[in-house]
Amino acid sequence: MRIPKGGVAFFDSGIGGLTVLSECQKVQGKEIFYYYGDNKHAPYGNLPPKKIKRYVFHAFRRFKRLKVKAAVLACNTATAVCVEDLRKKYSFPIIGAEPAVRLAAQAGGRVLVLATRATCESERLRHLCGKVAKEFPNVELCVRPCDGLAGAIEKNLLCKDYDYTSYLPDEKADAVVLGCTHYIYIVEQVSRFYCCPIFDGNAGIARRLCTLLECGRDGCTPLTTDRDCRLLDGENDKKVGLLTTKSDKVRDCQNLSNKCSQKVPEKCGKPRSDGKVFFLGKQRKNNENTYKQMFVSRILR
Ligand code: DGL
Repeated sequence: MRIPKGGVAFFDSGIGGLTVLSECQKVQGKEIFYYYGDNKHAPYGNLPPKKIKRYVFHAFRRFKRLKVKAAVLACNTATAVCVEDLRKKYSFPIIGAEPAVRLAAQAGGRVLVLATRATCESERLRHLCGKVAKEFPNVELCVRPCDGLAGAIEKNLLCKDYDYTSYLPDEKADAVVLGCTHYIYIVEQVSRFYCCPIFDGNAGIARRLCTLLECGRDGCTPLTTDRDCRLLDGENDKKVGLLTTKSDKVRDCQNLSNKCSQKVPEKCGKPRSDGKVFFLGKQRKNNENTYKQMFVSRILR
């Protein structure tokens, strides 16, 4: 199949990034998207950073050949390990996935951040938690690796009623952050287990993508400075639950989008089908089927 050049690329270790892709398709339905899931090497969470980097860079070489206009690193682990290195090497804008720690902290209390071990041990998450802890001194931030959880989701997603709770730390929480795009598939189980609001970063990534694409159009200045790039990291975002608060980051992003005359579109229902997704990599069929199944079986809300 001939793959057109110049679209927006998504990368994840496996199926996790499909949750991000579906959110982005809702707001940018006319775009050409590529999805590269490295399922053969998934899960990444317990691999050494050097290996993760090697795999991610392999995929990005493919993106470069496709002359992508932007890439979404739809993987918290890959973002934690190598988003800065990627940005140094590639000139196209790269949107990272960052756990929504600040947004969860606004709700106060004990915030449990669930992520892969590689993300939990990263300097990037340590830095983010340090900043948020300073900003919200009364919040207790607890970062917990969920070894095996992303792998179990990768393997059992289509088995209805699979019980993932043995992977979840059994502790009290006032808010939970899903710091891995795979975990978003099991938001309902997590929510039942902890009985508290759950946060993820996908809606924010979609907003950032809109900002980026709108800013590249109609003579607007494209986002290229370091600050612009930092604003492309989804550090805050969606709260699945009772209230929604706009984070500084989202506000920043909206200010940024005001550089252009157009507004960042709001999330709007089902993915539109007038654009197209091209699946790349050895497991492309697998990911394409999973993506279709997500809508047929209503795996994601
Ligand atoms: N979905 C990825 C993340 O957001 C990777 C999970 C894994 O491969 O361990 O962290």
